[in-house]
Amino acid sequence: MKGKSLVSITDYSKEEILEIVRLSEKFENNPVSDLLKGRVVATLFFEPSTRTRLSFESAVNYMGGKVIGFTDSSSSSVQKGETLKDTIITVSNYCDLIVMRHPLEGTARYASEVSAVPVINAGDGANQHPTQTLLDLYSIHKTQGTLENLNIFMVGDLKYGRTVHSLLMAMTHFNPVFHFISHEKLRIPEEYKIFLRQNNIPFFEYSDFADRLAEADILYMTRVQRERFSDPIEYEKTKDTYVLKSEMLVNVKDNFKILHPLPRVNEVSIDVDDHPSAYYFPQTKNGVFARQAIIAKILGLKIDF
Ligand code: CP
Repeated sequence: MKGKSLVSITDYSKEEILEIVRLSEKFENNPVSDLLKGRVVATLFFEPSTRTRLSFESAVNYMGGKVIGFTDSSSSSVQKGETLKDTIITVSNYCDLIVMRHPLEGTARYASEVSAVPVINAGDGANQHPTQTLLDLYSIHKTQGTLENLNIFMVGDLKYGRTVHSLLMAMTHFNPVFHFISHEKLRIPEEYKIFLRQNNIPFFEYSDFADRLAEADILYMTRVQRERFSDPIEYEKTKDTYVLKSEMLVNVKDNFKILHPLPRVNEVSIDVDDHPSAYYFPQTKNGVFARQAIIAKILGLKIDF
């Protein structure tokens, strides 16, 4: 991992993923350090973010490093017509690591090829969000005590949801059974189904899930990604197909947890927030520790706790 960019979750082996999960726990127990003293991390967000950017910046601050960057590319020289290549080459002269989010798929890979420092993909279009996946895996491991042999239900926008795409690829190391629930226009893309078949991972597709929740270990809810639709009418037709309500959670298992990468819109009713299975806000906190672990591994920091 040292010195290597993280663009797709497939850049990491099963052992490397488990190493991040183990290290995330160490950082949860020791969040404050000076491991990044004298280091600079750049956060370049060409698309909005609350959790990913702020948890990365929080991670760096707790480790004694400094952050530079922008939250809106209109305040950078991109506005004057500078290319992504020139922006990345320039910023990589100012920092030790770049964290980048961009609306176009493939931009993080391209940036990693021109940058002088490692690049972490903080989300590229509908493609990948590997650091979200690593914090999701840490959350699953923390709540289930294992990543192996779990029944995982994924609900919502399985077409455009990059967190879904990264998570299902990572989970194939751990013998899951997947249950996909989505509007017919937001089904999981064929390329991911091929990937699952090639890896002998069973999956089922349904149009509803209320009467199946008793089987679930993890329910991974997702928002319909309005920003990926070219036709707003299609968004309106699909946006409220699935809404999780607390009354649907009567027969769930004791270990059952509800995850959501957030932000949510309407797909999880606020009456679910007080249910013991609701885990999406603790999940956001796990993001700080998982990102500390990712930064530490990529920069090859010596950890003595
Ligand atoms: N989960 C996630 O990527 O959230 P943000 O868009 O707020 O970063």
